[in-house]
Amino acid sequence: RNLYGDERLNSKGVNLPDPAELQALVSGMQQASLQPWRAGPIVSGKAIAAQAMSVTNPANRSEVIGTVSVASEATVDAAISAAVAAQPDWNSTAAAERAAILLKAADLYEKHLAQLVAYCVREGGRSIPDSISEVREAVDFLRYYAARAEEGFGKGLSLPGPTGESNELKLHGRGVFVCISPWNFPLAIFTGQIAAALAAGNSVIAKPAEQTPLVAARAVELLLEAGVPPNVLHLLTGDGASVGARAVADPRIAGVAFTGSTETAQAINRSLAGRSGPIPVLIAETGGQNALIADSSALPEQIVLDVVQSGFNSAGQRCSALRALFVQDDIADRVLQLLAGYMDELKIGDPADISTDVGPVIDEPSCSVLGAHARNITKSARWQHAEEMSVELQRRGSFFAPLAVEISSLAELTREVFGPIVHVIRYRAEDLDKVIDAINNTGYGLTLGIHTRVDASARYIASRVRSGNVYVNRNMIGAVVGVQPFGGRGLSGTGPKAGGPYYLHRFATEQTITINT
Ligand code: NAD
Ligand code: ALA
Repeated sequence: RNLYGDERLNSKGVNLPDPAELQALVSGMQQASLQPWRAGPIVSGKAIAAQAMSVTNPANRSEVIGTVSVASEATVDAAISAAVAAQPDWNSTAAAERAAILLKAADLYEKHLAQLVAYCVREGGRSIPDSISEVREAVDFLRYYAARAEEGFGKGLSLPGPTGESNELKLHGRGVFVCISPWNFPLAIFTGQIAAALAAGNSVIAKPAEQTPLVAARAVELLLEAGVPPNVLHLLTGDGASVGARAVADPRIAGVAFTGSTETAQAINRSLAGRSGPIPVLIAETGGQNALIADSSALPEQIVLDVVQSGFNSAGQRCSALRALFVQDDIADRVLQLLAGYMDELKIGDPADISTDVGPVIDEPSCSVLGAHARNITKSARWQHAEEMSVELQRRGSFFAPLAVEISSLAELTREVFGPIVHVIRYRAEDLDKVIDAINNTGYGLTLGIHTRVDASARYIASRVRSGNVYVNRNMIGAVVGVQPFGGRGLSGTGPKAGGPYYLHRFATEQTITINT
């Protein structure tokens, strides 16, 4: 039996080496790109008209791929009113019925996979393989949370009691959840938050990142088509500081599911603490300062393969991505030489090209922040290697060439560097505990990589580093729903883990019913 507790497997995706499957994907993406792409607020199933702005392709800023309109304050308020009114009925709907709707949505996502991939590529700048993973993860979230809802929210839990008394513990939705998602997983995380909140019996206000509204709007259309009642799910497009902040501050909402930067999570936490009304719940999944420790027993070739995947896949724009490689001094020169060679083989370019390894970063401001950090950190670097990139590519889109740079201490990184930059730090075997302390002292705790052939060493490091997800002798990205429940601690998030068995509980409130029979 598998992760869903039944015979189904994780979403299949596309077998890219199969020419027929690849051809079907490419023509489906081309078809999708012929349609006009539009996003805007959807309240109670109706698109709300407002002035539209252009959305452009991060790989080609002159290419307008669609338009977006932004929710007004009145639209935010109306969406919350409708969601408040609809939640009790949705909560009373049998968990199996809610689950069936999510399962239907999963099937619809798979049916429209090529279209959703086209959105992720052209709007999010994600490579084709990354975009396929994005759809698969979204589908997995829908199916996994549907299964968890059926299991935990159907029948209550019978508890012991004296003769003549029955005791039952039941889970219910909390009310209205505001789901706020980032641009770097514009479909998977957007869908995962919504699926969890809905499965648990909440109504939802979905606020996607301002950079990726188009794929979010298409996802909401598919969820509504699957049968989510229109008053239960509302889409509010617009930026965080106005639309997101207004929804969060509304005293009628019961909780916020947030994924994004630590700073924004802290701002939302302050807003929730300062508002009137019932005490809301905050589920925050935030950034990381993720390290990989490679000791001299590890294979340099395997280290480098996993460093490249962990640091440069998705142009380093994953919360799980590698930021600091600690490499034992005995093998450091060999590792750096191999790393430079491997980096030179990476193809930077248009993510719509199947052979591209590294696509653009999301926008020009991100490019500028990375550029400023790179200029600063390389000034006194002992070693550095940047990939060559054509001026033409830099002019066309927000491309940033992968960079590896040797620094002397993790303390040089004062905040998360969200892009394709791997910082390398040499360490001596006798300083392993200092390395562990340095990682813990960042305050983050999201992912950790360990490369070693000494089991006891892997176990020792894993037990001492405060990290949510630990990967030994493999890359440290791409957690699979139901297989590697994902999420961090400290500055990296509040828990619970997305794609794990306890996630839905945080979206729920518990009721004990005692009956004197
Ligand atoms: P961000 O914090 O800038 O924005 C995230 C979302 O919050 C967006 O929808 C934005 O509009 C909204 N927002 C911004 N200010 C707000 C406010 N005051 N009130 C309400 N909403 C507001 O993050 P980003 O740049 O979109 O995403 C990148 C960040 O996300 C990185 O730090 C990355 O590590 C993190 N991330 C974490 C995980 C995880 O699972 N831990 C996964 C993906 C991304
Ligand atoms: N769950 C995502 C990963 O593991 C963030 O890369």
